[in-house]
Amino acid sequence: MFMTKILIAAMFLSAVPLPLFGAAYPKNAVHLDTKKVATGCSTCHLSFNFKAGGGPETCIICHGDASRLKKEYKNMPRNFAPTSGNRKNIEAEFAKTYRHPTFDAKGIHRSNEILPETDSRMPRHAECVDCHNPHYVSTENKFAGIRGKRVGNVISSVSKEYELCYKCHGESTNLPGQYGNKRMEFATSNPSYHPVEDEGKNTAVISLLKPYKEKKINAGDVSMISCGDCHGSENPESPRGPHGSLYEFILVDHYSTKDNQTETPFAYALCYRCHDRSSILGNESFRYHALHIQGRGSSTGANGTSCYTCHSSHGSPDNKYLLTFNKTVVSANSQGQLKFVEKGVSTFRGECYLSCHGVDHNPKSY
Ligand code: HEC
Ligand code: HEC
Ligand code: HEC
Ligand code: HEC
Ligand code: HEC
Ligand code: HEC
Ligand code: HEC
Repeated sequence: MFMTKILIAAMFLSAVPLPLFGAAYPKNAVHLDTKKVATGCSTCHLSFNFKAGGGPETCIICHGDASRLKKEYKNMPRNFAPTSGNRKNIEAEFAKTYRHPTFDAKGIHRSNEILPETDSRMPRHAECVDCHNPHYVSTENKFAGIRGKRVGNVISSVSKEYELCYKCHGESTNLPGQYGNKRMEFATSNPSYHPVEDEGKNTAVISLLKPYKEKKINAGDVSMISCGDCHGSENPESPRGPHGSLYEFILVDHYSTKDNQTETPFAYALCYRCHDRSSILGNESFRYHALHIQGRGSSTGANGTSCYTCHSSHGSPDNKYLLTFNKTVVSANSQGQLKFVEKGVSTFRGECYLSCHGVDHNPKSY
């Protein structure tokens, strides 16, 4: 603690950026570029509480509503205004219904905290500085300088988006009960997963739309996706990042997880971005997709069910095809079994042992 104070004092006296943990500030750090932020270190370090990290207010002066810039600049030193750059309104993203609790859980962040959280009693939070290191961030790498995993005595820096997310959505002991460990869901040792950490295991995902492909063969093929392909603003004009969205779970597109509903392009719009709706409803893989998704039609009063009733959105530690039954809709069959059994590889055949809407599957085969 004492050493840190001396270090900070030394930094400001010498006005020379010193390395924070191992490496010197990179040359492309946007906030330390005096062509972009004219007043250097003191721009942000005039008056905030170091221990608590300054809060989102430190950032939204420049990354918030444009009117804020004019108002708050009045109290700032001369030349404070960034001299260039085309900044987007990040603050507005956090006004949306579904968002990271950046403005909802303020003052919990500590600059010396180590994530994933090991104290289960700690309240959850996600501040701007948890995801962006203001001294390192660059146009090329928005997570530069965020401390990653500890390997022996070395703390690496986050280089992949998912590593950043796992800091709070992986092993955290304060993870709310209803949420799962995302690192486990995406583990490449799972029988199936959406290809975030590596290419996927299924070589016959026939519904994939261009440019998505199971394996990258040609230059234009995209065989891997990121958390950000699904989580982020619903508005493509908005700044990138999982700040906020009008759609539940901070999704870039609408996705309903409900049972008993009518299938529409909107209901499962997120999935249909990458998986051809006509292939899915045309039963090209699972022979009974349409039956389940659309139901038997309104004449019998039976509606369809969501992809979520059968599929995880992330990965499955137990089954192929992301099969993870939604236990609030699906239960064990008359023999007490609840499982999926694969019949051959890429043959589109299998057996389901379960009970759903009062229909006993003991098993049902396709
Ligand atoms: C864009 C705003 C901004 C600028 C410019 C800036 N800082 Fe910081 N600095 C912060 C914030 C915010 C924190 C708190 C980080 C946290 O809590 O995680 C911080 C924390 C620190 C710390 C505490 C250790 C740490 O990293 O948490 C030191 C030391 C520091 N800054 C030095 C500097 C120096 C030296 C410069 C100029 C080369 C500088 N800062 C420029 C925003 C800024
Ligand atoms: C004094 C104004 C100012 C403050 C305060 C400020 N920034 Fe910035 N920030 C900028 C400018 C200017 C850029 C470069 C934008 C460009 O080049 O278009 C930038 C770039 C960024 C980027 C990279 C985005 C990109 O498109 O290059 C991130 C992320 C970012 N800032 C986060 C933060 C965070 C987090 C804080 C608070 C700790 C903060 N900023 C505080 C002015 C500021
Ligand atoms: C510093 C911690 C932190 C980091 C890093 C972080 N999150 Fe979060 N995230 C939270 C907190 C806190 C919530 C509020 C709910 C909770 O406590 O889990 C949340 C909520 C979410 C939700 C909404 C959940 C819901 O039920 O609506 C999504 C989606 C999400 N985060 C995705 C991400 C992604 C993607 C990343 C990486 C780019 C990420 N998060 C990085 C802390 C974090
Ligand atoms: C293919 C799209 C897709 C990708 C890629 C994706 N998600 Fe999600 N995520 C969803 C959907 C859809 C939901 C809501 C339904 C659900 O919970 O499965 C969701 C829900 C969540 C939630 C809240 C509910 C829960 O299960 O905890 C968090 C947190 C989350 N995702 C984090 C992440 C992180 C972190 C990554 C990257 C490592 C990621 N997601 C990648 C589609 C995706
Ligand atoms: C939970 C993590 C998280 C939090 C909290 C968060 N961001 Fe981000 N932010 C991201 C991610 C991820 C990206 C997207 C990086 C990419 O894909 O290029 C991003 C992108 C950005 C960008 C660049 C946008 C663009 O389109 O170029 C800016 C600027 C930014 N964030 C500022 C902020 C500010 C200011 C705050 C706090 C008010 C904040 N962020 C809070 C994760 C976060
Ligand atoms: C009743 C359970 C069920 C529902 C509901 C369901 N699926 Fe499936 N889905 C399956 C099964 C079983 C398979 C595996 C077929 C096989 O053996 O290859 C599968 C396979 C897939 C595949 C991989 C093969 C392909 O077609 O590319 C995708 C993608 C898919 N489903 C997407 C969806 C989407 C999107 C929805 C919602 C619109 C959905 N599923 C609804 C059971 C379901
Ligand atoms: C950003 C593009 C993208 C989105 C959005 C997306 N997927 Fe996928 N999905 C992929 C890719 C790429 C693969 C191929 C992975 C492989 O080859 O194993 C895949 C594979 C699958 C598989 C087969 C996995 C396996 O191992 O058999 C299922 C099932 C699936 N997706 C369901 C869904 C559902 C349900 C949604 C909506 C919640 C969805 N996907 C949204 C890109 C996407």
